[in-house]
Amino acid sequence: MNVDIFTLFPQWFNWFFEQRHLANAIQTGGLTVRLFDYREYTPLKHGQVDDSPAGGGAGMVLRVDVVCAALEAVYGVDGAEVRDSHPVLLLSPRGRRLSESVIQELAGLRELSLLCGRYEGFDQRIVEHLSSGEISIGDYVVSGGELPAMVLLDALARRIPGALGSPESAVYESFSAELGGRLEYPQYTKPADFRGWKVPQVLLSGNHAEIEKWRRTQLG
Ligand SMILES: C[S@@+](CC[C@H](N)C(=O)[O-])C[C@H]1O[C@@H](n2cnc3c(N)ncnc32)[C@H](O)[C@@H]1O
Repeated sequence: MNVDIFTLFPQWFNWFFEQRHLANAIQTGGLTVRLFDYREYTPLKHGQVDDSPAGGGAGMVLRVDVVCAALEAVYGVDGAEVRDSHPVLLLSPRGRRLSESVIQELAGLRELSLLCGRYEGFDQRIVEHLSSGEISIGDYVVSGGELPAMVLLDALARRIPGALGSPESAVYESFSAELGGRLEYPQYTKPADFRGWKVPQVLLSGNHAEIEKWRRTQLG
């Protein structure tokens, strides 16, 4: 899967791509990520990328001409046509709520572009004319689209073969079809008894049929 991320703060991703499962997904070739800074493509003097809201109000809004120029420079076609070749998703609190089913849909893509907003967000013409849709990570506001893009990418990268130490980890987990879309059973590890807080006896029994049965009763 090839993912292009457009942002004003590409350095936010440095730490993220060093993390083990992301690094694994990239090293195995399952995931390719490119970062593009809107500022490098602005057609405006002084590197301007935003401006004050039409009609007045606080903050700054990302300009449509700047985002369009970035898309055109990277893809070599008219900015409004990029979304014809692959999804161009914009991170926004107004977007479709990110969920397991959205991740499943996106996991099947070969190409994906993510647009990260900042400040007051995007000029609406970016939403309407340059993007394929909006994705939200929940009903709250964070300062920029970088963390939401990382949340999305993290969930996608877990599904790429070779990303996780154990491939089974991504199969039997909360919301998966294997668990009927339910929440995973509680997990325990050593010590078996800590301050009298005990691991359920069935998990120490070695009886796999009983363990499986118990786990099924514990799904959320
Ligand atoms: C400070 S927010 C803008 C908030 C906007 N003025 C509003 O009230 O909805 C700046 C950027 O952060 C990102 N962002 C903030 N919250 C988000 C969320 N819940 N889901 C996805 N992206 C979000 C978006 O890219 C947004 O353009």
